[in-house]
Amino acid sequence: MDWQVFLNPYSQAVDELKIKLKGVREQCVIENRHSPVEFVTGRVKPIASILDKMKRKNILINEIEEEIQDIAGLRIMCQFVDDIYAVIELLRKRKDLDFVEERNYITHKKESGYRSFHVVVSYPVQTVDGEKRILVEIQIRTLAMNFWATIEHSLNYKYEGAIPMNIQDRLQRAAEAAFRLDEEMSLIKGEIQEAQKIFDQKEKRKRT
Ligand code: GTP
Ligand code: MG
Repeated sequence: MDWQVFLNPYSQAVDELKIKLKGVREQCVIENRHSPVEFVTGRVKPIASILDKMKRKNILINEIEEEIQDIAGLRIMCQFVDDIYAVIELLRKRKDLDFVEERNYITHKKESGYRSFHVVVSYPVQTVDGEKRILVEIQIRTLAMNFWATIEHSLNYKYEGAIPMNIQDRLQRAAEAAFRLDEEMSLIKGEIQEAQKIFDQKEKRKRT
């Protein structure tokens, strides 16, 4: 297995999609519209993590293209829960990718307390040998959901997946608190967006 060759289209896809999704925000900023996209990150799954997952899920080397959907991963952070659904609709309308799977961990939160919306898309990469379609996992979440997931992820790493019960309980309560924060922010969404528009315009005027 030549990993460099195998992973190249994935890193191409991540780079392209990062630019395209950041472009959504740029357009909104220029047109002085509320951007449902706050910021975008992306990564190619490290080889060690691919090997771990193969072992954990009994996946053979010739099956990884279909069975490991997050070799290419994008994350879109949003200010409000509504923005998540706006991003999904925006993605659905795009002509440069196709939806393969959707998982709503917002209405169906995970046992851990994890919330996010996942979509797996098929994305065409143009290679020297023609078009190659690859799977890309896009996780869409609010800033609060991201804060929680980032911290929970580090704790999982520290405890190698066996977080002590009392900390798990705390995390579940923190997840609920993050969810309430999102709900509270939604209630004053109009007010916040108006303030941000005024602020952004002022910033723009300073630069021109
Ligand atoms: P994986 O084997 O982990 O890919 O599980 P899966 O195939 O069932 O996919 P799932 O929809 O659960 O998404 C997996 C990805 O979502 C992970 O790689 C994480 O990025 C994220 N995720 C899922 N559950 C949790 C969680 O409890 N905590 C955190 N921090 N992230 C999670
Ligand atoms: Mg997965």
